[in-house]
Amino acid sequence: MKFYVTTLVISLQICSCIIWSVGGQDNRCKGYTINNYYGITRADGLNTSSTQARGPPGRPGKKGPIGQTGPKGDRGVPGLRNDLLSRLPELKNLLTPKTCSYLTGIPGFNPQNGDYLIHPSPTKVLPLSANCNFSGIATTIIGHDALNEEKISSCNPHKCYRRSVQYEATIEQITAMINASLHCRQFIKYRCIESYMLHPVHGPSSSWTSRSGNEIGYWGGAQRAGYCACGESGTCVDPTFKCNCDRNTVVETSDEGYITDKELLPVTGMAFGDAGDSGEHGWHTLGPLECWGRN
Ligand SMILES: *[C@@H]1O[C@H](CO)[C@@H](O)[C@H](O)[C@H]1NC(C)=O
Ligand SMILES: *[C@@H]1O[C@H](CO)[C@@H](O)[C@H](O)[C@H]1NC(C)=O
Ligand SMILES: *[C@@H]1O[C@H](CO)[C@@H](O)[C@H](O)[C@H]1NC(C)=O
Repeated sequence: MKFYVTTLVISLQICSCIIWSVGGQDNRCKGYTINNYYGITRADGLNTSSTQARGPPGRPGKKGPIGQTGPKGDRGVPGLRNDLLSRLPELKNLLTPKTCSYLTGIPGFNPQNGDYLIHPSPTKVLPLSANCNFSGIATTIIGHDALNEEKISSCNPHKCYRRSVQYEATIEQITAMINASLHCRQFIKYRCIESYMLHPVHGPSSSWTSRSGNEIGYWGGAQRAGYCACGESGTCVDPTFKCNCDRNTVVETSDEGYITDKELLPVTGMAFGDAGDSGEHGWHTLGPLECWGRN
């Protein structure tokens, strides 16, 4: 019992000493070592601001109050983003369609005839400018430097006069446009006075050159070598020939029609002859390349 009382008294002394020491105003605890929050300090001056050793950091303070609510944002446009995403292919067409044909049917597109930038094969060629005609079937048109009628110069041998054709795009770009189309055609015409073309006995004195540089032996509107359009349809001015010009008289006539073979187009050159004598004349006309349909 005595032991307990002594212990209790000592404990009380230490406790009050600690309590008062923390307050820093009492010197009853001289000689005790006090453990406080700031470290270990000899009680010989009640110096509680020791920087010799630091205890663990205190707990974080309380969170501050939640701030005021911000202003309301603008109202969104319902479904616009999804709508745009679903229309991405046709919007891409609006920017650079593969051909003029790919512009048709896009809601909101106003089909005005004129020049457009097209991109028939993004992996193979650069975009090119083409003329679009939306009157009737949407058609992609590519021009060149021989659209106007030109008189051939005087010379007699077969294919002595040669005219190469320069397009407003590279042959690769044009080929890509042809590939992206279902149908293509190019008008070709020879107007003649005493100048034959594919004469079965004396000829052929004329030809056109294909995309890959081959000289082709039929004329526009025909498919068979030695034939013009009138030969195919049996309507030549002289039925014994397959071209009007092959009659070879002073009476002016012409042979004309469309070349429609996609693999051979565009026409890259024309050659003529039998125009060296004073009475012999010839004039050529080559239309632009026209393509339509989606391939
Ligand atoms: C308390 O102790 C610190 C560092 O140990 C000392 O710089 C300071 O002077 C002391 N203060 C008093 C009142 O003794
Ligand atoms: C466009 O095509 C229409 C119908 O084929 C034709 O009548 C018209 O001349 C063409 N316009 C141009 C500028 O080529
Ligand atoms: C066009 O099509 C042909 C045949 O399919 C292909 O070999 C060629 O690489 C294509 N060219 C371009 C420029 O797209």
